[in-house]
Amino acid sequence: MAWPERIEGNDFTLRAWCDDDAAALVAHANDEQVSRSLGDAFPHPYTFEDACWFIAHGRHAGNEKIYAIQINGEAAGSIGVRVGEGVERHSAEIGYWLGRTYWGEGIATAAVCAVLPHVWRELPLYRLQARVFADNPASMKVLERCGFTHEAVLRRQVVKGERLLDLHVYVITREHLHATP
Ligand SMILES: CC(C)(COP(=O)(O)OP(=O)(O)OC[C@H]1O[C@@H](n2cnc3c(N)ncnc32)[C@H](O)[C@@H]1OP(=O)(O)O)[C@@H](O)C(=O)NCCC(=O)NCCS
Repeated sequence: MAWPERIEGNDFTLRAWCDDDAAALVAHANDEQVSRSLGDAFPHPYTFEDACWFIAHGRHAGNEKIYAIQINGEAAGSIGVRVGEGVERHSAEIGYWLGRTYWGEGIATAAVCAVLPHVWRELPLYRLQARVFADNPASMKVLERCGFTHEAVLRRQVVKGERLLDLHVYVITREHLHATP
């Protein structure tokens, strides 16, 4: 694979996580407003030890390509694509989060859109999906603006803390790309 080391956006750079990012990672990730929309593998509270573990091990997860979202010189979020296994080896899932300081500036939208061409070029995928908790309209908007289609609602799929939630599935297929002028 030949993923670029850096992907430059107007207000951010996507680049590898590094050891020096631990403090910034804690500063942005240790926020219930961030973790509430993510799976339980994203801890809350998010400790310095969690950050060190992620940088040492988590970011090297087998089938996942992960970039830090660097803004104003610091790692303020993350974006990753995890490829499926077995019969799902030609499908992948995209996930992302951003520190609250930078919400509402279009950065997540730009980061997802910036990654997509590399995903299609580097991975033998037919399908890229994202799964969004029902109470996360901001993320739904990000995906819709990047060309994802709302495919399904998995009713009562998620229990996050005290919340019982539907899960919304968004998708882009390779055919969709070819059909898009
Ligand atoms: C979801 C998330 C990545 C969005 O990041 P962001 O950089 O603020 O997103 P963008 O600015 O590109 O776009 C968000 C859009 O949603 C809109 N939005 C925000 N809250 C909203 C709400 N409650 N209802 C409707 N729209 C909302 C914003 O106004 C913006 O639209 P606009 O540009 O037309 O104003 C960020 O909120 C986050 O990290 N949340 C916690 C983790 C998470 O949810 N990750 C995704 C899991 S699927």
